[in-house]
Amino acid sequence: MISVIIPTYNEAAVIQETLRRAAAALRSVREEFEIVVVDDSSADGTTERVESLASEVPVRVLRRPGRLGLATAVLDGGATARGDVWAVMDADLQHPPEVLASLAKAMREGADLVIGSRYVPGGGTSDWTWVRRMISRTATHMAATVLPLKLASVGDPMSGLFMIRKSALENAQLNPLGYKILLEIIAKAHYTKLVEVPYVFQEREKGASKLGARQYLEYLQHLLRLAVGTGQLWSWIRYGVVALTGAVIDIALFVFLVKKAGWKPTPALLLAIEAALLNNFFWSEAFTFRSGRNVALHPGVGRRLARYEAICTPSAGLNFMVTGLWMTLDARVLSAAAAGVVAGGALNLLINIPAIWRTWAGRR
Ligand code: GDD
Ligand code: MN
Repeated sequence: MISVIIPTYNEAAVIQETLRRAAAALRSVREEFEIVVVDDSSADGTTERVESLASEVPVRVLRRPGRLGLATAVLDGGATARGDVWAVMDADLQHPPEVLASLAKAMREGADLVIGSRYVPGGGTSDWTWVRRMISRTATHMAATVLPLKLASVGDPMSGLFMIRKSALENAQLNPLGYKILLEIIAKAHYTKLVEVPYVFQEREKGASKLGARQYLEYLQHLLRLAVGTGQLWSWIRYGVVALTGAVIDIALFVFLVKKAGWKPTPALLLAIEAALLNNFFWSEAFTFRSGRNVALHPGVGRRLARYEAICTPSAGLNFMVTGLWMTLDARVLSAAAAGVVAGGALNLLINIPAIWRTWAGRR
């Protein structure tokens, strides 16, 4: 049985339509289900509207005192759920309830965690402005950068629409904060098959969003706490130390070859950058991502090396161009090499971390 958990805070205008459409969707695929509305003392009559529908739809209300937050609402609702599967969905119709049918189908086909995703082919965000799109994408990318091994392979880890097998949550020590309970679940639940099902996030037609500055702040706090809790902070520290050794090798070798060995800048730079890449690869293998310590490595050291070189090509190229350009403007070899390293490193840090880390582990 599926227990659909719907958190509400002042959603009277839409809740009945949501419940009707959710029930119709699950009936259309012959799923047994119950719906739990977790309401935080809405003042607009949300719970009355839910209860007046109880003869039509198998729904009950869990009332909580005051506004206690979305993530804890989901867990409190889950604690009273009778199904072996939890479905989580917003009340405001921004998650089209019909998607529940596709999620249920994927569960039946053996998934343990199914995510309704805006960021896989077929999914989307209706008519968001580019600013809103960029904020959402940036926040998603930040999650993948802070927790590359867990979140980088998921298209929409911040989704509020998903299903999870209850057995995957046993011993999972969920520690909810703010809005994004799914982050917590992806990072800590015990699932083997994760599937993303595309959906288009709808505009909110009625009621108002509850997302504000406080929720953005909690999001950052949540990411950091997960990095500590999953041990990925330590991978990050090791990764940073290795990156520093690479930077030193790049700069020192370039300066040595040009100033002491009399090489031309171009071959010296190519050799220095490649030496740094090989250094970083070697120490990542032997130290940062050593098998058995924190990750299950992707097979084949040769394939890992080829992938690593390919993914680092843009930042190596940027390093090369910046150093070269700096040399033509101002012949100081040391500062030119340092500028190149900073530019290449910044590109990696801002854009490439998720892809680089997936050289060693995580879904590709
Ligand atoms: N019980 C309870 N308590 N419900 C809440 C609370 C709360 O403190 N805050 C919000 N809700 C309910 C709302 O009533 C709504 O049903 C749902 O949670 C989502 O709130 P919105 O304010 O509409 O969120 P959003 O549209 O900005 O973002 C949603 O969609 C995103 C994309 O899938 C959330 O689900 C995000 O987590 C999700 O990333
Ligand atoms: Mn919403």
